[in-house]
Amino acid sequence: MRLAHLHIQQFRNLQQVEFDASSGVNLISGQNATGKTSLLEAIYYLSHVRSFRTQHISDLINHQASFFELFARLHQGSATLTPVGIWRSRQKLQIRLNQQSIKRVADIAACFPVLAIHPDSYRLITAGPAERRQFIDWGVFHVEHGFFHAWQRYKRAVTQRNAAFRSGQSLKLCQLWDVELDETAVRIDALRDDYVRQLTPMLQNLVSRFFPDREVVIEYRRGWAADSSLLEVLQHTIQRDRQRGHTSAGPHRADLYIRVDGQSAQTGISRGQQKMLVALLRLAQAMYFSQANNKPCVLLYDDLPAELDANHRQQIIKVIQSMRVQLFVTAIEPEQVDLSAWKHKKMFHVEQGRLQELV
Ligand SMILES: Nc1ncnc2c1ncn2[C@@H]1O[C@H](COP(=O)(O)OP(=O)(O)OP(=O)(O)O)[C@@H](O)[C@H]1O
Ligand SMILES: [Mg+2]
Repeated sequence: MRLAHLHIQQFRNLQQVEFDASSGVNLISGQNATGKTSLLEAIYYLSHVRSFRTQHISDLINHQASFFELFARLHQGSATLTPVGIWRSRQKLQIRLNQQSIKRVADIAACFPVLAIHPDSYRLITAGPAERRQFIDWGVFHVEHGFFHAWQRYKRAVTQRNAAFRSGQSLKLCQLWDVELDETAVRIDALRDDYVRQLTPMLQNLVSRFFPDREVVIEYRRGWAADSSLLEVLQHTIQRDRQRGHTSAGPHRADLYIRVDGQSAQTGISRGQQKMLVALLRLAQAMYFSQANNKPCVLLYDDLPAELDANHRQQIIKVIQSMRVQLFVTAIEPEQVDLSAWKHKKMFHVEQGRLQELV
């Protein structure tokens, strides 16, 4: 999948931006506060129906407008392009895919796989486990189509179980959900575990180049005791869960432990190293995606030169160039990113929210 054409209206400071993208690399340069990150954010929004830097929709709608609109044509491998569009006001969201209105965010996500590396990405390591579950689940979702259904079922059962606790239902009624939780948890756990296993050799390959002589270990923990079934754990903890009003074990508590030379990556490495490691995790994800699906995904790299020193920048560019991805990268000065290795490339310049192709 590649993005062929994009039209942005009233998204942050981008009033009207329309362009045809290169299938290889697209470099967007411009001074501070011109709209570079906003452009990547718009692409990300079209895929995830959320932003990587805010949860508030009013941050995204241009201050002079009451809605924004994003429209893209996606190249899915066949001759015809797939149109996708999002129209968003403060109250309403409309998603269209192939001229049809769709309700589920998962449907747009499935046909438009996008990964982002940006200045806050290190939070994958430093923030809570929810970020790391999202990391794993992005990968599982795009490889295993049964995952979404199992996760929906699981989430619904946890919500119902917690609601039963909070409304003071009898122990018997609360327990009714346990079998459903157990069944779906087994599936979710197996898929997540498998994903992390498949990802590991790709990550290790990158780590050996960027962190020579360091031992980086990623360890998936499923969210309940390793030696018991979830059913056993739920039965064991139900009294306490009922008192607290929530389910304390299960896939919604899973995490990914990342250690460097035996120490937690949260505290044991520098911020620069955290940024590097997260970039490698995302690149490994993109590699695995294209291998498993036999098609490329889109990679957004915000502020690449600011994130890496010159040596690492060169190395990372080399790695990305050798991968099957469509890259959108931003920089203040265009010379900061060496595009010489790409055959298909385009350069754009943004100024006060307006985009111009450099030829
Ligand atoms: N909803 C909005 N409406 C209008 N302008 C906005 C809105 N949200 C943000 N802006 C402005 O858009 C401009 C572009 O922001 P953006 O983060 O995309 O810049 P940038 O080019 O990535 O800058 P930097 O190089 O500093 O990272 C900023 O001046 C910001 O204040
Ligand atoms: Mg920026």
